[in-house]
Amino acid sequence: MGTDWVWLIALRDLDQDARAIQLGAVADLSLLPGQERFVGDPLRMALAGLAEESRRPYVVESGGDAVGLLTLQLGAASVAGWPDDRSAWLLRGFLIDRRHQGRGLGTLAAAAAVEAAHRLTVRHQGGESGVVLSVNEENHAGLAAYRRAGFLDAGRYLGGSAGPQRTLFRSFATLPPP
Ligand SMILES: CC(C)(COP(=O)(O)OP(=O)(O)OC[C@H]1O[C@@H](n2cnc3c(N)ncnc32)[C@H](O)[C@@H]1OP(=O)(O)O)[C@@H](O)C(=O)NCCC(=O)NCCS
Repeated sequence: MGTDWVWLIALRDLDQDARAIQLGAVADLSLLPGQERFVGDPLRMALAGLAEESRRPYVVESGGDAVGLLTLQLGAASVAGWPDDRSAWLLRGFLIDRRHQGRGLGTLAAAAAVEAAHRLTVRHQGGESGVVLSVNEENHAGLAAYRRAGFLDAGRYLGGSAGPQRTLFRSFATLPPP
């Protein structure tokens, strides 16, 4: 930990060839046994993200490798137990490849996702005040990574099919202007 860095590559902003290369790398991402209950199939999530206007899927890159995936979505915050849809970005479909877990990259990627969402809000002059997500109460790695990235607990959420979740939120208020 310490010297690693991550970049978020917006799949939506790439031309067809570059996007195909990134999607090939996404298809190679894999999880540790038992983690499939917390997140969907990476390639399917990336393609779903590109197909739906409100979603922005990102490849997490570190050291020249695709190490993970995440999606930011507008107008869907209630999916994570937030009281309304539009006042926060939804962070969903977040994973770090099994070979790269435990190095701090999940923490860095979650923080980078908040910065990316903040930039988008400033650019489109939107009203979102931060980023919200839901995480299974049994997902210790997920809870730890989000907390280290500055997310705060906003309560229990009983929606979803995989058991009780925590709703976590990180406000843009403490960030410097992008
Ligand atoms: C959640 C996830 C993205 C975290 O990525 P990561 O790169 O391993 O995270 P970090 O290395 O930044 O570790 C963050 C914390 O989790 C801890 N951690 C990592 N792997 C762990 C594990 N298997 N069990 C328990 N804690 C773990 C780390 O020790 C660290 O905690 P600490 O700050 O107390 O030391 C990754 O585990 C993952 O892809 N999981 C499967 C998909 C998933 O659960 N996504 C989230 C859905 S909401």
